[in-house]
Amino acid sequence: MMNLQKENILIVDDDIDILELLQRHLKSWSYHTYKAISVKEAVHILRDTHIDLLITDLKMPEVDGFELIKFASEHYPNVPKLVVTGYPSVQDSLTAIKVGVVDYLTKPFTKAELQTAIEKSFSPKDNLASNTKVNLSEQTQQAYGDIIGKSEKINDVIQIIERVKNNKATIFIKGESGTGKELVARAIHYQGKFSRAPFITVNCGGIPENLLESELFGYTKGAFTGAEKDRNGFFQAANNGTIFLDEIGNASLAVQSRLLRVLQEKEVVKVGSQRAEKIEVRIIAATNSDLKKMIEKQTFREDLYYRLTVVEINVAPLRERKEDIPLLVDKFLLKYGIEYKDRFIKISNKALEVLKRYHWVGNIRELENVIQHAVIMCDGIIEVEHLPDTLKINIDFPNDNRLLPLKEIEKRYILKVLNATDNNKTKASKILGIDRKTLRNKLEN
Ligand SMILES: Nc1ncnc2c1ncn2[C@@H]1O[C@H](COP(=O)(O)OP(=O)(O)OP(=O)(O)O)[C@@H](O)[C@H]1O
Ligand SMILES: [Mg+2]
Repeated sequence: MMNLQKENILIVDDDIDILELLQRHLKSWSYHTYKAISVKEAVHILRDTHIDLLITDLKMPEVDGFELIKFASEHYPNVPKLVVTGYPSVQDSLTAIKVGVVDYLTKPFTKAELQTAIEKSFSPKDNLASNTKVNLSEQTQQAYGDIIGKSEKINDVIQIIERVKNNKATIFIKGESGTGKELVARAIHYQGKFSRAPFITVNCGGIPENLLESELFGYTKGAFTGAEKDRNGFFQAANNGTIFLDEIGNASLAVQSRLLRVLQEKEVVKVGSQRAEKIEVRIIAATNSDLKKMIEKQTFREDLYYRLTVVEINVAPLRERKEDIPLLVDKFLLKYGIEYKDRFIKISNKALEVLKRYHWVGNIRELENVIQHAVIMCDGIIEVEHLPDTLKINIDFPNDNRLLPLKEIEKRYILKVLNATDNNKTKASKILGIDRKTLRNKLEN
């Protein structure tokens, strides 16, 4: 079997002898193998590596193979799964959890049986082609790079990323704090064809104003006290790749006019130098401040604004895409469950309801913190009691000066009361002084 593009196979078993036996066979057919002696390790490998086939044992200490299959089916639906088990009656249970296990092998098995099972795993999907090239609509259902979400708002973002990832158009990302702007910037770079070139993040708000210019563009020897030799800046470092100018609203007017020059002339000039250097960089800028207002106040250059916003991406606040909450919660449960408790942590429906209703001023970052905290506090399942009190009683009102219609206020207040009563509609309607039917009507409208 000569094939240069051999598939990556992940084998998971707590029995090292079986792992080595499998590996020997697989290697003899020149597959690449990854070994994991626990589900935890397997999850790490799945996250970091492109895997074409998962072969797993079922009975393992701590987390068992069923959990791994469920997890892989959710997060990597295109990876075929093959079960190796010592328990022949297992097929029923596999059917019961309704996950895409292609085949199962009972131990002890022969080399020929293994080969047949592997070929079967690869055959229905026309192997490599379908596994490496996941089509977009399928992929966006769960994740795009590291971006999780299936809402229309996230799909729109992903569609734009698809359009811009292979060219060098300047991109402007707008969105509240914690919505995933940096994640989007990284996806543009790493999903595109320039992904091997550098991706450099500059936090324009984190560098003292008097240093930002020299950090960005570099400086020449003697440009200022302490400049003992020539130094390149972030722009030179990012050459041929992407520079991500985060919190662009914090760039001083001096830096802004230099940036304008970079965008117009595609060249940078070191501080203290007259000589321009040509550079090829894709610029992605992001902000959560209102640049239009800054333009009015003349703290942001309008001409720079128009140069930066060739392509605009709006990352919606989490409260406007609540259908993404369960998926994000899953991701964070997995991440922190494995990190803190060495197992998969679940969440009760009631607790999830509370999360879905909350206003999330801090967006996904806030959600991540809440889950992290709850994972630590719970024993296997996150219940409402493990969530911070602020979530239960505080349906926040927007902290800008927006004036809201009475109906909206009413709805928010109803949600607040529902949260405080753990979603108990009888208690809530009592507090609100309305009957349950009225409450239901109000919630539906
Ligand atoms: N769609 C998403 N799927 C998975 N994780 C996400 C998603 N969006 C954001 N996150 C996570 O939430 C956190 C905040 O995201 P990020 O740093 O990109 O936000 P930001 O918009 O740049 O925020 P800020 O304006 O505060 O800098 C990160 O840990 C990121 O991985
Ligand atoms: Mg950021």
